[in-house]
Amino acid sequence: MNSADSLKYIADKLANWYTVNKRDLPWRDISDPYRIWISEIILQQTRVNQGMDYYNRFIERFPTVVHLAESDEDAVLKYWQGLGYYTRARNLHKAAQQIISKQGGIFPSDYNEVLKLSGIGDYTAAAICSFAYNQPYAVVDGNVYRVLSRLFGIQTPIDSSAGKKEFKLLAQSLLSTSTPGLHNQALMEFGALQCIPANPDCIDCPLQSVCKAYGMNQVTLFPVKSQKTKVTNRFFNYLFIRFQDKTYLQRRVARDVWQNLFEFPLIESDRLLSASELIENDSFKSIFFDTGEVEIYKISNPMKHVLSHRVIFAQFISINIANENEMLKQFVQVPFNEIDHYAVSRLMELFLENGDH
Ligand code: ADE
Ligand code: SF4
Repeated sequence: MNSADSLKYIADKLANWYTVNKRDLPWRDISDPYRIWISEIILQQTRVNQGMDYYNRFIERFPTVVHLAESDEDAVLKYWQGLGYYTRARNLHKAAQQIISKQGGIFPSDYNEVLKLSGIGDYTAAAICSFAYNQPYAVVDGNVYRVLSRLFGIQTPIDSSAGKKEFKLLAQSLLSTSTPGLHNQALMEFGALQCIPANPDCIDCPLQSVCKAYGMNQVTLFPVKSQKTKVTNRFFNYLFIRFQDKTYLQRRVARDVWQNLFEFPLIESDRLLSASELIENDSFKSIFFDTGEVEIYKISNPMKHVLSHRVIFAQFISINIANENEMLKQFVQVPFNEIDHYAVSRLMELFLENGDH
């Protein structure tokens, strides 16, 4: 449990740091909710430097919510040109019209009313209500996840629903009630400038003495994600080589999949290769240098093997050779009836069980 004193200590340090280090940005130190809203929507998927030009031009062309609501959607999209994620621009226009029709043209100040507007979620509603109206709603964005996970050594994945709840509660309990707007901006700015993703400057950090991640020398391990990284496709061409009564295996050293298991000699490629492509392949040529006749007598059906972060497409190429060469002698030489003495992947197992090779 974090004591009120330590939370207060951290909040005070952040506020002091912010006063000295904050960038001078056009949407800072203003209280117009309309401008704050526009800036936060732009900054959702855009860097501050690029966002600044767009923000200035947008505000000049659409200075109030009335100007925005009365414009054509096309005009708004035009001013968004190049920023990407155009749903943001369409939602801005739609929300402006909602403010005209449902709020009498006045930007709402009630958190739940703000939240009802098109394109506004928890983060944006908290940003608007705290920056414009100084209401005590904690913002939680990527910067906040990173800073809090490091300061408090929180290992709950930030992309899990448990993590979202935990960080939201912690951010809320850290929120200073007298100056919530300043506090929120301080925390975000601290993440953007000081406690940055790679190589943060911990040596000169005012929170170093209370930072759990720093204390454990584990700054790079935070924040923790549940690793739903993109699935990548791999293409494995396995060589089932027959020479007299034996074949060849190798221990897989690559750290990506199946580390330390045994497998046939492997040619990885960017798609599965045909017999004629194999013969032209440099790795293939180097394996079969000087072996006499190389007879590709069967290529298995392609097999699809789904792992947590990868889909492996594999085929097994059955090959007879006339002579053994020095290259092949470097593999583990295994009599056919002893293959099952070796630990192999499930994919290899399926091929071996199939029998038709
Ligand atoms: N990123 C998101 N909101 C921001 C803000 N108000 N200032 C700077 N960077 C931000
Ligand atoms: Fe971030 Fe390093 Fe400061 Fe901890 S000590 S808050 S990791 S900059």
